[in-house]
Parts: sequence; C-alpha cells; structure tokens
Amino acid sequence: MSHLTVTVTVSLLSLLLSLVFVSGDVIRLPSQASKFFRPTENDGDDDASAGTKWAVLVAGSSGYWNYRHQADVCHAYQLLKKGGLKEENIVVFMYDDIAKNKENPRPGIIINSPKGENVYNGVPKDYTGDDVNVSNLFAVILGNKTALKGGSGKVVDSGPNDHIFIYYSDHGGPGVLGMPTSPYLYANDLNDVLKKKHASGTYKSLVFYLEACESGSIFEGLLPEGLNIYATTAANAEESSWGTYCPGEDLSPPSEYETCLGDLYSVSWMEDSDKHNLQTESLHQQYELVKKRTAGSGLGSGSHVMEFGDVGLSKEKLVLYMGTNPANENYTFVYENSLKIPSRFTNQRDADLVHFWDKYRKAPEGSARKLEAQKQVLEAMSHRLHVDNSVMLIGKILFGMSEGPAVLNRVRSSGKPLVDDWDCLKTLVRAFERHCGSLSQYGIKHMRSIANICNAGIQVEQMEEAAMQACPTIPTGPWSSLHRGFSA
Ligand SMILES: *[C@@H]1O[C@H](CO)[C@@H](O)[C@H](O)[C@H]1NC(C)=O
Ligand SMILES: *[C@@H]1O[C@H](CO)[C@@H](O)[C@H](O)[C@H]1NC(C)=O
Ligand SMILES: *[C@@H]1O[C@H](CO)[C@@H](O)[C@H](O)[C@H]1NC(C)=O
Repeated sequence: MSHLTVTVTVSLLSLLLSLVFVSGDVIRLPSQASKFFRPTENDGDDDASAGTKWAVLVAGSSGYWNYRHQADVCHAYQLLKKGGLKEENIVVFMYDDIAKNKENPRPGIIINSPKGENVYNGVPKDYTGDDVNVSNLFAVILGNKTALKGGSGKVVDSGPNDHIFIYYSDHGGPGVLGMPTSPYLYANDLNDVLKKKHASGTYKSLVFYLEACESGSIFEGLLPEGLNIYATTAANAEESSWGTYCPGEDLSPPSEYETCLGDLYSVSWMEDSDKHNLQTESLHQQYELVKKRTAGSGLGSGSHVMEFGDVGLSKEKLVLYMGTNPANENYTFVYENSLKIPSRFTNQRDADLVHFWDKYRKAPEGSARKLEAQKQVLEAMSHRLHVDNSVMLIGKILFGMSEGPAVLNRVRSSGKPLVDDWDCLKTLVRAFERHCGSLSQYGIKHMRSIANICNAGIQVEQMEEAAMQACPTIPTGPWSSLHRGFSA
C-alpha cells in the first residue's frame, strides 16, 4: 500500500468517525444521524432546534356514529402540519371509514366543528382499516420496523434529542382503550411500551394527550415519574369523557349531520392551539384552560382533566411538541380567551344512540331508512341491557345477592392501579366474552367490575362457570358478535 493511499484511508476514516454521533451512551450511525443535518424549523427555541418533533395520532374507533374520533385526529394532523412538523414525522392511525361513508352528507370531507373547514385534506393514510391495531401502534412508537405488519411503514425513528407527542381519541373503560380491531389496548401494555421507549434512549421528552372515558385509569398508579413523560387525560379514572358539537346541543352541527363532530377535551386543546403563538404558551397553561372548558357548566357536567408523570415538564412551551403556526405569531396566550364553554354535551357512551336517534327522527315516515335506524337503536339498547345484566348477575353468582354489587362497584384508593394482575383481567374478559359475547365499545365500561373480580381472587374456572350460568347463549345482535375476536 502506498503512503498516499494510507493517508487517504486514514482521513476517510476520521471523516466517517466524525459522522458517528455519540450522545449519552447511545452511538448513532451516520445513516441514523442524518437527521441532525437536516435543517430544522426556525422556531426560535434552542432546545427545539436540536431535535426533531415526532407525533403519533390515533383514532381508536370505526363507524359513522364515532365520526368525532377520526375528525379529532384529522384536525390534530392539520394543526401539527401548520405548526411546521413534517409529514414524515407524523404517524396517523385512523380506520378511514368516515369521509366516504354513505352517511356522510359531505362526501370526501370531514369537519371537527360546526363551521369548521375540511380537516381530511392531505391526511396521510399511514395505518388504516385493520392495520389500526395494538401491535402496529407499539411497533410505531418503539420505532421497530420489523414488528410492523401492513401500513405505510412509517415509525417514530427518533433520537435522544427528539420530542414526541402522542394523541389518542376514542372510547375507553377502566384500564383499557378501544381499537377498531381486537384486542383492545390495555393500560399495562401501553405503560410497558412507554418504559421501553424510555429505556431505548430515543427521546428527550414525550407528551401524551388522551381522550377516552375513564382515561385517568390508563396512567393512575402505572406511569412512574422519571421517564420524561407528561400526560394529560380527558377524564379521571371513574368518569365518562364527553362528545361535543352533537345534534341537539346549543353548538350543534349543520342540520344534515346526524352525528357528533368532536370531543370536548380534544377540541378544547386543539382550538386553543389553533390560534395562539405556541412559543409563548406552556403545556401547563393549556392544561388549565382545557380543564376549565372540559369541566363544563350548566346542564353539562363534563369531566375532570388530569395530569400524570413528570408534571414539571408542563412548564415547557407547546412549540416543542406542536410547533407553531407563523400566522399566529402575534396571538399570545390569554387565560380568559374566547373559548366557548357549551352548556350541554353528550356522554361519550351515548353518542352512538344520539346518531341512531337523530337518524330515526329525521327519516321520512315509513321509509327504509327509518326502519334501519329503529333497528339500530334497538340493537344498541338491547346490547347494553344484556351486558349490564350479565355482569351484575355474574357478580351475584360469585359473591352473593347483597355482596355482589358492592364488590363490582368497589373503587380502589387513588394512586393505585385498577388491578394487580393484568393477565388475570384479560383472562377473565375472555371468559366473559366466550359465554356472553363481545363487551364492545359500550361494555368496556364494566372493566372495573371484572378487575375487582380478579382482585377478589376469583379463578378463571369460577368465572367460566358463573358466565355460563349468566349467559346460556350469546345474543345474535351485531354488538355481541365475536367476529373480530376477543377484546383481550
Ligand atoms: C395488525 O394488522 C396486521 C395487518 O393488517 C395484521 O397482520 C396483524 O395480525 C394485526 N395484529 C393484531 C394484533 O391484530
Ligand atoms: C422488533 O420486533 C421484532 C419482531 O417482533 C422483535 O423480534 C425484535 O426484538 C424487536 N426489536 C427491538 C429492538 O425491540
Ligand atoms: C406581527 O406583528 C408585527 C409587528 O406589528 C408585524 O410586522 C407582523 O407582520 C405581524 N405578523 C403577522 C403574522 O401578522
């Protein structure tokens, strides 16, 4: 080897070495480090310009009666896009059955408020249909492409200086979040994935906004401090969250819409972020404002917005996670802003009935549509009755007529997770569904009762026996159907 070649080789090597980033104890290869050379948006924040902003947006439902969850997620996409996040850094999960739904009065269009603009335009179809499932969501958060099945292949390929924002909107129940597919997302698994993400050293801080019934139960006693994660939830661990812009409310959708357009906590944070300079507004300021609006007034009781994890992170500015729309640079945060607090809104769990009922009410007398709507109302109601009665009966079979309801309704002291043994919870959910049919989006409200059955030490054989007695057959309606498999 000539002297010259050696010199060239050596300098090439040192050039290559200079491209290997060592940050903490994580070594990044040149291919991975390339993002450090990409021009970052000039948002005037030193901290932010050092890392990439990532977002994962999840609508956990399907069906036109759940219009609002996908509308929320599309709106969030537009907001982040205007804030300067790049499409390649925003991963969207939505079933995508709304825009072209035969019930949609404006084909190809989705709105998230009565006078709102189309939020569907340009939303990337990363994970749609059956690709919207728990295993793909976890693979995306962890940045594990080999674990992905289907979808666009986009994952959160983040580095140690990056900021991650996760927003989820759907039905939920104690300890569980809905998915348009089975199984549903259980709180312990979600928190395990967040811990794993933290252990991989691939973010600086992470913010999680969660809209669902009993969403406080997803983090209560489960999300430790020290992971650099700040989470806020639409509700505490024991209450419903609320849909808004529903037919019959004072801020109702245009008359041709027979469905709720948004969720209260979700539109509260988004309508706040939409108009402010997010370089000046902190996470905490937004939390206070959203809490106030979501609490409701008048007839609407609303829910209690909660915060979890590293609450100290909430002094950070929103721009770190959401970017900021340059058009808002002169709109600084004001507490008493003009966000309207509606006097009425709709329980998340009744929004499907609102849809079926509004459809029934408006359909012409004697029309096929009226008959269809009537059937839908009855199916939904009879499923509710069946699930409520079956769970109650199982409690009485297991614990006795008087003790049963007390055990089922017991709420553990605050700060404690719903259940100690999550595998037990899932096993008992399957035992219930084997005999009584699917819990489905309404039935997951009984998750606390099933958790309490575990906490009382009931074994799966006893549960099977009790469920068999309570449910001699699975009802034939669509809500009880197990065609998608067990929800656990
Ligand atoms: C998730 O979706 C993919 C693609 O549709 C499928 O192959 C996989 O089995 C699903 N996983 C679960 C847990 O449903
Ligand atoms: C990624 O997923 C694959 C398949 O599930 C798994 O074998 C692998 O261990 C995962 N990689 C990491 C880094 O977790
Ligand atoms: C904000 O105010 C400054 C100073 O008045 C002005 O120059 C700028 O154009 C304004 N920005 C926007 C987006 O309206």
